[in-house]
Amino acid sequence: MNSDSTAPVHYDRMLVVLHWVLALGLISQLGLGVWMEDIPKDPPGLRAQWFNLHKSIGICLGLLILWRLGWRLTHSVPLPPKDLSSFQNALATLNHRLLYVCMLVMPISGFAGSNFSQYPVKFFGLVLPKLWEPWPEAKEILSEVHEITGVVTMVLIGLHLLAALWHQFVKRDGLLKRMGWSR
Ligand code: HEM
Ligand code: HEM
Repeated sequence: MNSDSTAPVHYDRMLVVLHWVLALGLISQLGLGVWMEDIPKDPPGLRAQWFNLHKSIGICLGLLILWRLGWRLTHSVPLPPKDLSSFQNALATLNHRLLYVCMLVMPISGFAGSNFSQYPVKFFGLVLPKLWEPWPEAKEILSEVHEITGVVTMVLIGLHLLAALWHQFVKRDGLLKRMGWSR
């Protein structure tokens, strides 16, 4: 926990870069996930190609998320804004924590679920070793977890974006700069 005198004013630049790379990556990955579900199974191959790309990108995002979490837990971050009520700050903290939970559940459920399917996971063409035997029931449950958490993530990002817009255009308190590059 930071004390007032030691707390930084901005997120450090590593967290800033990871925040924006992951924001772009996760929003694109959510879109790709929803979109690829509608690709017809015929002709064969096209659907699998997009699924494999989604899995490869998802693994990269998962590694970036682990890096971000590790960095976040070992570095100081700004204190909650003083001019907000404690209720507003609690809501923001809850939203951020839930986003972190979703950021973990999405790649883990996708990766574990795919390992329970009959197909091997390919990482940009490289066939990864199968972690365990196919188990359709486990695959089914993890697919559900992946889908539901995907929807929850979209809702949380929507609320997060609305909050950012409110700070920028209604409250005009420059909060966005805390997640910016300039110092
Ligand atoms: C879409 C545009 C986005 C904007 C404008 C935005 C803006 C911001 C801002 C200004 C902060 C700092 C809040 C503060 O100072 O208290 C922040 C924090 C955060 N953002 Fe975003 N964000 C966006 C997208 C995302 C996405 C897609 C995710 C993840 C799924 C995300 C996850 C987070 C998390 C977890 C924090 C808390 C950081 C921490 O304490 O470690 N953001 N965001
Ligand atoms: C950060 C990570 C990820 C995000 C945000 C994400 C998002 C999504 C979304 C929104 C869907 C559509 C859900 C539906 O309508 O069923 C989806 C489907 C899918 N994703 Fe991901 N995904 C991620 C990582 C992964 C990873 C790492 C894998 C596997 C290695 C994976 C494998 C799949 C598969 C196979 C589907 C098709 C539906 C299913 O069988 O579950 N995803 N993903």
